[in-house]
Amino acid sequence: MHTPISLLDAKEFLVKLVQEAGEVLCKYFDSGSFTQKSKGGVDFLTQADEEVDAILLKRLKEKYPQGNFLTEETAPEDYSSLKELDNLWVVDPLDGTANFSRKSPNFAISIGLVDKGKSKLGVVYVPMTKNLYYAMEDQENAYLNEQPIHVSSTESLGELVVAVDWPWKLEKRLQVVEWIKNMSMSVRQIKAMGSAVADLASLAEGRVDAYLHSGLKPWDVAASSLIIEKAGGKITSSNGNQWNVFQPDIFVSNGKVHEPLLDLITKK
Ligand code: IPD
Ligand code: CA
Ligand code: CA
Repeated sequence: MHTPISLLDAKEFLVKLVQEAGEVLCKYFDSGSFTQKSKGGVDFLTQADEEVDAILLKRLKEKYPQGNFLTEETAPEDYSSLKELDNLWVVDPLDGTANFSRKSPNFAISIGLVDKGKSKLGVVYVPMTKNLYYAMEDQENAYLNEQPIHVSSTESLGELVVAVDWPWKLEKRLQVVEWIKNMSMSVRQIKAMGSAVADLASLAEGRVDAYLHSGLKPWDVAASSLIIEKAGGKITSSNGNQWNVFQPDIFVSNGKVHEPLLDLITKK
């Protein structure tokens, strides 16, 4: 039997860790000097993705030697066996690499602690704004810079601000196109901001009312999903079914518009 992880202790540790890692990202961002590599197709990574992934993994392993780990840049092709694990640390060292590489400041670091596909601790850091979000399973609220946050209260479709984004797998983009087509005549705004982690965190603080994606990875959602739930939001798959962090297809909302928006996006 391992000693259970103290979520409060882990949160304190992660907050310092992501802030340190954020400094590394900011240095690269400010200098604009980093190498880039293709991951196949239109996907790519930078030197900063790899360096910060290695730092976070090393520090997490030192602190939690008994833990399980899934980081974007060391993930095996098939990680489906991790679905049943507890105490799985899930890391995206740099979410929004395309933004980062083009001097656009909307990028984030994400660390979540997951039991059987469900997050019990999530920390998200946006280095350029120094915004720090977190949530814990045993606390009532989600927090941004230590202040409780809440999703929006928008109810009418005509006032909705919806974010979507584009999967790296090109064939999955057609689903996003169909959602946009179905929503475009009914909602106020549809945008793609380029960092699933930061964009979902911004939904948790009410800046966006809904978010749709057809190809996310566990490291994109392991932290933000809990932050959204604790901020009063709702997460399902895009056909309204139960969702967990291993499911690529996601529909997130402030809860109030979940059903009407679901009807809209699933119409034929
Ligand atoms: C990507 C971003 C983007 C989303 C992609 C993700 P990365 O993460 O979150 O917003 O549309 O599907 O893969 O590759 O920059 O860590
Ligand atoms: Ca990444
Ligand atoms: Ca990502």
